[in-house]
Formats: sequence, C-alpha cells, structure tokens
Amino acid sequence: MLRVGVLVSGGGTNLQAIIDAIDSGIITNTEIEIVISNNPNAYALTRAQNHGIENICISPKTFENREQFNEALINKLDEKKLDLIVLAGCMVVLPAALIAKYRNRIINIHPALIPSFCGKGYYGLHVHEEVLKRGVKITGATVHFVDEGTDTGPIIAQKAVEVKWGDTPEVLQKRVMEEAEWKIMPYAINLIANNKIEVIDGKVKINQ
Ligand code: GRF
Repeated sequence: MLRVGVLVSGGGTNLQAIIDAIDSGIITNTEIEIVISNNPNAYALTRAQNHGIENICISPKTFENREQFNEALINKLDEKKLDLIVLAGCMVVLPAALIAKYRNRIINIHPALIPSFCGKGYYGLHVHEEVLKRGVKITGATVHFVDEGTDTGPIIAQKAVEVKWGDTPEVLQKRVMEEAEWKIMPYAINLIANNKIEVIDGKVKINQ
C-alpha cells in the first residue's frame, strides 16, 4: 500500500478526484493517511472528514516563527510514515528540509503546460489570466515531482486543454480542472503506487 499524505489550502477538488479514483479503483494500492491544510477554513478538510480521513490544520499563523511551523509540519508527515506527499492546491512554500528529505516523493499539480506559464507568481487564476492575455490556443495541466525550484521538478504527466474564444479566467480554470487536473493527478498517483515510474537524469520514464 502506498501511504499518501495530501497537503491542501482550498476547495479540495483535486483531493476529491483522488478520493473518488481510489474508491472506483482507478488508483490501486493506495491509502490516504492524512490531509493537512494551512487554512483552517479549507473545504478540503471537510471533504476528508466526510470520507473518514484524518485531517488537521497546521497553519504558520499559529506558530511563533517559520522554523517552528516547518518542524511541526515535517514531524507530522514523518509520523505518518508516508511514501508520497501530494500537493493538491497547496499554497504553502515547503521547507527546504522537507523537499530534500522526500526527494522524488512529493508531487504537485500545476494548471498549465510546464514550462509555459509557470514559475514565480504563476498560481491560481493568475495562470489562466496570463494564458488568455497571450492568446495561446492550448493550455493544460502538469503533474511533476517537487524540487527546490518553482515548478521545475521532473514532469510525470501532462494533458492539453483547448482555450476557447470568450473564455474568462474562471471558465478556463474550470475546464482545465475538469479535463486535465482531475484526470492526470489520479493517473500519476496510480503509476507511483504500482512502481511504474523511474527518474533518470531529471526526467521521468514510465514503465507500463
Ligand atoms: C488547482 O487549480 C491546482 O492546479 C492549483 O490550485 C488549484 C487547487 O484547486 N495548484 P482545488 O483546491 O484542488 O480545488
């Protein structure tokens, strides 16, 4: 069983897609051990609760300094003996010590086709605003391993989504989620759970 911890900050639709994919057998050999949010009001926590998954808030705001927050987060993740940490709409900058400790065991979903529309400042609706500003015809989503950079880690899965005339950032965000994010995140987790992934020279080889 792949022991997964999911870090969230908001609505948790990607978390829901993972829960549903485990329930329906799209993802096998996987158990979500814990859901952690930095935001006490994240609906993602309620989604976890509704499915009987352990869920807690660890917020930087409740610690005296960043070091104490980092330590609490790492301790909690270590305690759950996780094989994989999934960032599903997680808006927290991860401690460098966590990234080093869980090398190629942390994945993130980004709502664009990396290396386009990614890096510092490209998060949430900003990504879709920039996509529309540039007038590209294709966007999409990317699941990648997390390294020390912003959206720079090895790419596991990508899916393209059409940009349509008249799209607003909100409309495009919804299409990217429905057509790409909620599909490639479960796909990537299932590959990892079934040992189908190797990282070679910073690139991901999928062994089917
Ligand atoms: C998604 O668009 C994801 O790509 C981005 O944050 C959003 C999270 O949405 N990193 P949700 O909380 O999973 O609904």
